[in-house]
Amino acid sequence: MAPSLRDAHPELQSEMNAVSEAVNKTIARLLPETDLPENHLYDAMRHGTLSGGKRLRPFLVMHSAALFNVDPARARRVAAALEFIHCYSLIHDDLPSMDNAALRRGKPTVHIQYDEATAILAGDALLTLAFEILSENETHEDPRVRCELIQTLARSSGGHGMVGGQMLDLLAEKQEFDLGTISRLQRMKTGKLMAFACEAGAIIGKAGEPQKRALCNYAHDLGLAFQVTDDILDVEADPQDTGKDTGKDVEAGKATFVSAMGKEQAKERADMLVHQAIGHLKIFEGRAEMLKELALYVLERRA
Ligand code: IPE
Ligand code: IPE
Ligand code: MG
Ligand code: MG
Ligand code: MG
Repeated sequence: MAPSLRDAHPELQSEMNAVSEAVNKTIARLLPETDLPENHLYDAMRHGTLSGGKRLRPFLVMHSAALFNVDPARARRVAAALEFIHCYSLIHDDLPSMDNAALRRGKPTVHIQYDEATAILAGDALLTLAFEILSENETHEDPRVRCELIQTLARSSGGHGMVGGQMLDLLAEKQEFDLGTISRLQRMKTGKLMAFACEAGAIIGKAGEPQKRALCNYAHDLGLAFQVTDDILDVEADPQDTGKDTGKDVEAGKATFVSAMGKEQAKERADMLVHQAIGHLKIFEGRAEMLKELALYVLERRA
């Protein structure tokens, strides 16, 4: 039997739990229950954001920010904003017109629990709320920093980022894509938000250009490795572990790294990318151990 995360990386496990707990509190505070008639929308937003998840992107924000001694309360707001974008992308990804998935994080997807229109609106409202949070003074007192966060997140999420990647992903069901195009698609749909997670830490910490670039390069490779392992899990994992429907990519006839090069070669590719990602952390001279551990976890994950 494979060792559990707790056995393999005890410190990483407890750090991931700590980040999840802290970020969950921030998310819950940002989505309070009200007795307004639109509370129904907020119920759906809470369902889409507070029903588990590994909170990897918040982990990356918190640990990149920690390299530059950023106030954790500020970093948590950025982490929550990014997690809102990620959760919106999942709510829309699961819709019948996209991946048509019924299970997410071990619970019914938002359109199953509520309905399709509510799921679309919950995604829209989370997307908008993310930018509202970044624009607020509490996130950073320097308006230039807030503006850079907003601009970078907008670019990472939009038509040349996550949303553009999702478009290519849908086209990959109908068109033959070569490995270069699949890799670009994956870097857009998954890599861009992961890259924002790391870059955000550098932006709030007003890091120097070499440090910022190192983090972006790390995240770039990690993001692609993460999506390759997601595609591997789609063909070999158990929904009991992943908390989501599996076999969706083959069912849709989607071009992925697994369909293009086979499972074993895809695993080798993920391994190579993760070690390349870790190589970019050298500049931090041993201060980025948690980012290194997280990268290794991406290779072993079963969820
Ligand atoms: C799932 O992301 C979607 C992809 C980009 C592959 P995660 O595997 O990080 O999902 P959660 O947040 O833990 O549920
Ligand atoms: C989704 O990729 C990526 C985004 C939501 C941007 P997938 O469709 O592979 O994610 P899962 O497998 O449903 O989590
Ligand atoms: Mg999808
Ligand atoms: Mg999906
Ligand atoms: Mg997938």
